[in-house]
Amino acid sequence: MKLSSFLHFASFGIKTILFKKKTPILGTVIVTDKCNLHCKHCSVNNITAVVHPYSKIKQEMQQLYDMGVRILFFCGGETFLWKDGELTLRDLVVEAKAMGFLIVNVVTNGTYELNLPEADLILLSLDGDREHHNIIRGDTYDTIMKNIENATSDNICFYMAINQINKDYVKDVCYLARDTKNVRAVSFNFHTPYPDTKELALSKDEKAKCCDTITQMIKEGCPVFNLKSAFPYLVENNFPTPCHQCVVIENGKISTCGRCIEVDKLCEQCGYFFVAEYTLLFKGNIKIICEMLKTYLKYI
Ligand SMILES: C[S@@+](CC[C@H](N)C(=O)[O-])C[C@H]1O[C@@H](n2cnc3c(N)ncnc32)[C@H](O)[C@@H]1O
Ligand code: SF4
Ligand code: SF4
Repeated sequence: MKLSSFLHFASFGIKTILFKKKTPILGTVIVTDKCNLHCKHCSVNNITAVVHPYSKIKQEMQQLYDMGVRILFFCGGETFLWKDGELTLRDLVVEAKAMGFLIVNVVTNGTYELNLPEADLILLSLDGDREHHNIIRGDTYDTIMKNIENATSDNICFYMAINQINKDYVKDVCYLARDTKNVRAVSFNFHTPYPDTKELALSKDEKAKCCDTITQMIKEGCPVFNLKSAFPYLVENNFPTPCHQCVVIENGKISTCGRCIEVDKLCEQCGYFFVAEYTLLFKGNIKIICEMLKTYLKYI
């Protein structure tokens, strides 16, 4: 990370903690909800299947920038399905950097060619070993591995949503993150139980077991892009929600934290690690602040 970016984030963090500010720093643009997969745990694909035009996305990026957002995520649906004429996702990433976003990340299911050297991180969803990933995501594991092998840059970070199907395969993803060319790290979430996927949620004991496994993996030298100090809060689901420093924009509509904020009582069962990490950080939790500094400087 550039020193100027680090100083911007440090100053934002200090002001947010001291003055209990609620202005956002992290924003996500949903470029489409269209997706080529229908994963078992996902409730947000193909609801409208509209691919939003470039003019709209650019306007949304500018709107987030003007609100103070400097860490930008492009997400879907399947993000790589986005195009407008000759323009592709890569053009959006380049545009975002030119606009002044300091960190630009993309979230993807990894089934399309990975040619995005301009992104700081490509968060690539991998949901366990080959067998369990494929149970959740269809027969995609081998295609994804081939795309990672042929990727044009080493900015890939696995992204695993842990649920009832894959909870025993956390180690597989950690070792693969450590041993695979072009992969820098792995980042986790627990399943967030939308009304139609409640049965995939983990119990408190199961979450604790997963956190123990991740801690062991960190000790063994696996590159985990999460904060250990947030684990007890994630197990107990007693971190503050929603995250006021995060916003999502989809089709012109801005939501604080996530689109899921509209789902009744879902925040009480939130499994997203970034929410625990960011809300604790901005509450001034000293352990989280120190760990965040170390982790972010290592992987971005
Ligand atoms: C909605 S997908 C969009 C990007 C891309 N299609 C992908 O699969 O990475 C973004 C991430 O959300 C995760 N996800 C989907 N539903 C979830 C849920 N209910 N709880 C936690 N994570 C979830 C997916 O596994 C994926 O890592
Ligand atoms: S690939 Fe992503 S958006 Fe598509 S169904 Fe799976 S989790 Fe949902
Ligand atoms: S805190 Fe609520 S709005 Fe934020 S990600 Fe979790 S469930 Fe969604």
